[in-house]
Amino acid sequence: MTSVLVAGGATGIGSACVQALRSTGVDVYVADLNVDAAGQHERAELPGRFRVGRHDLADPESPARAVAATLDAFGRLDGVVVTAGVHLVGPVTEYSVDDWDHTMAVNVRAPFLFAQAAAGPLAETGGSLVFTGSTAAFRGSRGAFAYSASKGALVSLTRSLAVELGSVGVRVNCVCPGWIDTPFNAPYWAMQSDPDGALGSIVERIPAGRQGVPSEVSSLVVYLLGPSAAYVTGQSMIVDGGLLSA
Ligand SMILES: NC(=O)c1ccc[n+]([C@@H]2O[C@H](COP(=O)([O-])OP(=O)(O)OC[C@H]3O[C@@H](n4cnc5c(N)ncnc54)[C@H](O)[C@@H]3O)[C@@H](O)[C@H]2O)c1
Repeated sequence: MTSVLVAGGATGIGSACVQALRSTGVDVYVADLNVDAAGQHERAELPGRFRVGRHDLADPESPARAVAATLDAFGRLDGVVVTAGVHLVGPVTEYSVDDWDHTMAVNVRAPFLFAQAAAGPLAETGGSLVFTGSTAAFRGSRGAFAYSASKGALVSLTRSLAVELGSVGVRVNCVCPGWIDTPFNAPYWAMQSDPDGALGSIVERIPAGRQGVPSEVSSLVVYLLGPSAAYVTGQSMIVDGGLLSA
């Protein structure tokens, strides 16, 4: 594995994937809206090369452009990791069609379009795709129906893509994080009148007794991309400190 595209690699889980991959000498192309934050990777002195491009995954042309840019930069493609995601909450009676469509475009359509664009180049290298779902695919929560539906769809998409692309030697898997300490949850904490109390009551429900950190998800992503997972495909693996088991 020498060349991987990380869509959403500017911050959080994607950023941890970029760092972990580059540390082992893998060249990484980051496709993200937030190129300023992605710039932090440019300053890191790591064996794997780094390129970044501004791509809005809500635009259906973006995935193919990002795949082409990765091939231009590194000449081959061994893996695609999609961590970019959006979480737009609101009461069901007021939820806008725009928010629903944007959630589905970024969280479900973009991963599908990455698979479409990358299937050929990945077939040449025996590469794989790793999507980022959520424990929200398996449990409900107030105001999060578009997000939950999108992540449930991603779990189903993973299975069907794995079945179809297995015939050309491309594996497709999904990681499903629980509560991970990243900027993703900042809007949730901002909505709480007592953020410390809210964190306390969440942590109480997690058998591990704490939120996860991004590297605890990226380690699973790196495993799924690599040769140790050569016989693993179509899977959605939960990384939640035991939350769903409690
Ligand atoms: N942090 C958690 O607790 C948690 C829990 C479950 C699932 N997840 C999932 O993990 C994934 C990564 O989240 P994170 O926690 O690392 O959050 P994050 O906010 O740190 O990272 C998300 C990245 O996606 C990028 N992005 C968002 N919209 C984009 C768009 N339209 N085009 C291109 N890039 C875009 C952001 O700029 C950012 O770099 C998401 O899919 C999220 O649903 C996170």
